[in-house]
Amino acid sequence: MGHFHRLLAQPADTHLIDLGPYLHEIARSAISAMSSPDATTLDPMACKTCELSNSQALLIGLIVGELVTNSVKYAHPAGVRGRIRVTCEPTGAHSAIGVEDDGVGFPEGFDPSIDGGLGLRTARLLADQLRATLTFRSGPLGVIAHLLVPAEPSTSRTQIHLATPPGVPGSASPV
Ligand SMILES: Nc1ncnc2c1ncn2[C@@H]1O[C@H](COP(=O)(O)OP(=O)(O)OP(=O)(O)O)[C@@H](O)[C@H]1O
Ligand SMILES: [Mg+2]
Repeated sequence: MGHFHRLLAQPADTHLIDLGPYLHEIARSAISAMSSPDATTLDPMACKTCELSNSQALLIGLIVGELVTNSVKYAHPAGVRGRIRVTCEPTGAHSAIGVEDDGVGFPEGFDPSIDGGLGLRTARLLADQLRATLTFRSGPLGVIAHLLVPAEPSTSRTQIHLATPPGVPGSASPV
């Protein structure tokens, strides 16, 4: 995670981050903070390379962290072992990110586009900030959250340099 923190701490939009490993790490951390190791299974990520700016990745990471935390907290009130899947896929002008659980679904009558506490409200605000759409499907087989993030128009950011020479101002630390 330290590696990602260094990338995220770079000036906004100067570095690209591959979402797959980053989101997997966020999901893994959220699960281990919230549940015992064998209470939840995190499916391996089968992501295609999906590179976004560090500032976009930061916001997406916050949303995914909240969604995974919710799945751990609410998907299996009876305490059975749960499964969570996080996906991401570049789809032309967008990046499609998914967070799925196999739990009981939202409570009856709950509308995740307007209802919820601080967590979902914040996730919706962050999605707005990304000019993304955040949608949910919910049923007896679980909740599927889908975040569709438009690619940034700018092409002026520097290319990916995970390890830049030491001493360059503002450069990433060597990996
Ligand atoms: N994956 C899920 N499965 C079932 N219910 C869910 C799921 N995610 C959210 N919910 C329901 O939606 C409600 C609102 O979620 P929200 O994240 O906004 O608030 P919270 O998790 O209760 O509190 P916090 O503000 O700390 O996040 C939850 O209380 C829960 O009832
Ligand atoms: Mg929450």
